[in-house]
Amino acid sequence: MSHQSKRIILKSFPQGHPKESDFEINTIEIKEDEVKDGQVLVKLLYVSVDPYLRYRMKQVDNKAFQGYKLNEPLTSICLARVISSKHGSLKEGDNVTSWNLTWQEFSIVKGEELNKLPSNDLPLSYYLHSLGMTGFTAYFGLLSVGEPKEGETVLVSAAAGAVGMLVGQIAKLKGCKALGIAGGKEKVEFVKSLGFDDCLDYKTVDNMDEAIKKFCPNGIDVYFDNVGSETLDAVLLNINDGARLPLCGSISNYNDTKEAQGPRRTFNLISKNAKMEGFLVSKYGKDFGKAQQEITEWLKQGKIKEQIDERNGMEKIVPSFIDLFHGRNTGKVVVKIADE
Ligand SMILES: NC(=O)c1ccc[n+]([C@@H]2O[C@H](COP(=O)([O-])OP(=O)(O)OC[C@H]3O[C@@H](n4cnc5c(N)ncnc54)[C@H](OP(=O)(O)O)[C@@H]3O)[C@@H](O)[C@H]2O)c1
Repeated sequence: MSHQSKRIILKSFPQGHPKESDFEINTIEIKEDEVKDGQVLVKLLYVSVDPYLRYRMKQVDNKAFQGYKLNEPLTSICLARVISSKHGSLKEGDNVTSWNLTWQEFSIVKGEELNKLPSNDLPLSYYLHSLGMTGFTAYFGLLSVGEPKEGETVLVSAAAGAVGMLVGQIAKLKGCKALGIAGGKEKVEFVKSLGFDDCLDYKTVDNMDEAIKKFCPNGIDVYFDNVGSETLDAVLLNINDGARLPLCGSISNYNDTKEAQGPRRTFNLISKNAKMEGFLVSKYGKDFGKAQQEITEWLKQGKIKEQIDERNGMEKIVPSFIDLFHGRNTGKVVVKIADE
């Protein structure tokens, strides 16, 4: 049996903001009888689009980020269903995730590169958000790097996004005051509906330094940075003694065509005995299982609210990715490719 399989190719390295014309959809045939020992044939169910993929479109190739190649299909964290298997521990019908699965409706892959999902009542798409890489980023970035203590003030930027919405909720679970920064009135309302104590609409702000000072009158103990630039600058003026600043992302710079200016106001880190620390979620790989178990419990007990911003179809992957850089998402963007 063979499967006509749509896939998405990188046609040019984006200059500035990615455009639809940087990508192309074409179709190939995947033959089931080409599955070899140790391999499985999978059908793509859900694709995760993430801001860091923009970095992989920059002709990079280092230990942390494998650069995409021109005229080759793109990959990301995806969820798929096993259609046929020649791998000992996987069978037809199993649901699996991979951190590097091709944006292609059907693929033949090595079974050892797939993580079999447990079966429970939770929606599968959660494994691309709170129960997957994004959730682990919020969990370890806040708890292991930010080290929040009860009663402290935790501020997070891109608070209505996939990572940010979880950071604030986990901060609340740890007895902290959770404050968010997000773009637009609707996002502010969404963030507050998650239980954050308050949220600042940065799009209505003229002077970020003044706005953060007013928004955090008791200073900031933990700043979880998803955006970089002027927000980080403004936060540095308002940190408390011994503050921790986990650097998770710097999305405001991802489409820069010139290298961003170096960090400013770092003297405030010195005068406040504060710590700014970058991290990649992969650093905590050996503890993902523990985090997944704990977040599963929180979800089941209603302690954490989920928000999947679901789109539909292969044609929506690229526009959904582009949307991330224009703030056109609330919660985690997941593209559904096929019915479960
Ligand atoms: N360190 C790690 O291992 C790791 C892992 C996963 C993610 N990350 C990083 O975490 C951050 C959040 O990722 P996510 O998946 O949760 O994405 P997301 O927050 O769901 O989506 C991106 C959001 O960023 C905001 N944004 C976009 N352009 C911006 C700009 N120029 N200035 C300020 N804000 C801007 C928008 O929100 P507004 O509408 O509110 O502006 C947008 O909705 C990203 O920087 C990502 O690279 C890091």
